Amino acid sequence: MKLLYQQMLAFFAVIFTTLIVFGIAFSQFSSRMIYQDTWKQLEGYADSVFQQSVVVSTSGEFEGIQIAGLENSERLLENQSVHFTIYNKQNTIAYPKANFSPTISAAQWKKLKNGETITRKSDRRLNQASSKNHRPTTDIIKPYRNQKGDLIAVISVGSPVSNVELNMRKIRHNLLIAFLISGLVSIIIAYGLAKYSVSRIDRIRKAAHKIGKGNFDIKVPTKGNDEIDGLATDFNHMAISLKKSDEEIKRQEQRRREFLADAAHEMRTPLTTINGLLEGLTYDAIPEESREESLQLMSNETKRLIRLVNDNLDYEKIRTNQIVLACHSIPVSHIVENLMEQLQKKATEAKDKFVVQVGDDVIVYADYDRFVQILFNIMQNAIQFTNDGTITIEAHNDKDKNCVISISDTGIGMSESQMKNIWERYYKADPSRKNTKYGESGLGMAIVHQLVKAHGGEIVVDSTFGKGTTFTVTLPPQKTE
Ligand SMILES: Nc1ncnc2c1ncn2[C@@H]1O[C@H](COP(=O)(O)OP(=O)(O)OP(=O)(O)O)[C@@H](O)[C@H]1O
Ligand SMILES: [Mg+2]
Repeated sequence: MKLLYQQMLAFFAVIFTTLIVFGIAFSQFSSRMIYQDTWKQLEGYADSVFQQSVVVSTSGEFEGIQIAGLENSERLLENQSVHFTIYNKQNTIAYPKANFSPTISAAQWKKLKNGETITRKSDRRLNQASSKNHRPTTDIIKPYRNQKGDLIAVISVGSPVSNVELNMRKIRHNLLIAFLISGLVSIIIAYGLAKYSVSRIDRIRKAAHKIGKGNFDIKVPTKGNDEIDGLATDFNHMAISLKKSDEEIKRQEQRRREFLADAAHEMRTPLTTINGLLEGLTYDAIPEESREESLQLMSNETKRLIRLVNDNLDYEKIRTNQIVLACHSIPVSHIVENLMEQLQKKATEAKDKFVVQVGDDVIVYADYDRFVQILFNIMQNAIQFTNDGTITIEAHNDKDKNCVISISDTGIGMSESQMKNIWERYYKADPSRKNTKYGESGLGMAIVHQLVKAHGGEIVVDSTFGKGTTFTVTLPPQKTE
């Protein structure tokens, strides 16, 4: 069964049951009220009959019936089909003589003697034994006593049950109409409510369908705070996560494709050069005086190829944790001095000068060769992208004993988007920056990044386009057990 119908059925069952319970309760309550009203009315008649027709002696005894007053009352009550009977204290009927009137049982008489008024809903006994013109009645039997408490007379006043039933029927009829109308309204309400809930679930279902088809730009609207809204909120979170991972998968795929293309491209250039030179040498197309130079060029290109392959292998090894780091506590100043010596020639060529702010007591906990590799790459980049500028190397141990080393240059800098991709393999912020003198292939920073990570540290870059760049490496101290 469809959810809509299930919900409707549930709503309708609740509303219908409530209506039935209320209907029965109301019908019983009104029946009781009608009977009570009738008895009250009949009691009033009995009182006035007693006052007008029963003659009581001064000693408080039943003396007889005043027929004139009685006929008067009888005429009045006849119009409303009310009949009455007067009994004397011996339980014999004093009025009317001719008609059939119910006799009062011994038990009832005992109650009456005690001053209790008896009310009856319908006298079935009377119904069975009566003549044609006697129909079922509801009646009241009321005793009248003198001051001493002795019974004077008993008056029974009855009215046909049909009078009461007429009223009851009217009420039941109205109740039925009310019942039908509210039944109809409840169906409409049940349908509306069910439709509303189902439409909300439907929205989520449609959204899930779209996601299944690869459309992650979905947001299910949430207004309230109920379970369906909770589901919609969770669903939206799920859509966001799915979108993110989908983007990441696409990005990785893109990077993989670029990597293959870049690797092929990087290798093709030296291979083409070597191939050309080899052909030239084979066919003696290169003049004797240029041969030496050609061989030198081939040697350089081969070295470049070897470096490229080695760097790639190195990167993969570090990335997949295949390298073993032999970490020690090493003074940073010593390493920086060595590196400056190595790079001094290049720096002089680029008219760059070094500024070093590293105290002798600054200690780094790292693998010596790998730490040198990190600093070498960063410093080499600084020289490469700075002309006629300053390269500042600063290092200190912070309060947590981390070693913080920053290398700043006053070179060409990078834009925000260029900085974002700097740790990617083969990334070159601007291909036109390519300076074959250093054999740039965009692997340096990717390797540095992996090495810093392998040391449990972090590296951040801060750069302003046209102003300069700062790399800050933070390496943690030796762990104490
Ligand atoms: N100090 C810097 N100033 C400006 N740009 C930089 C700096 N360092 C790196 N970059 C940019 O980041 C890119 C990636 O640097 P990375 O060291 O990985 O590659 P590379 O220097 O081009 O090649 P490789 O280091 O593999 O020889 C560089 O090509 C350059 O565009
Ligand atoms: Mg580099």
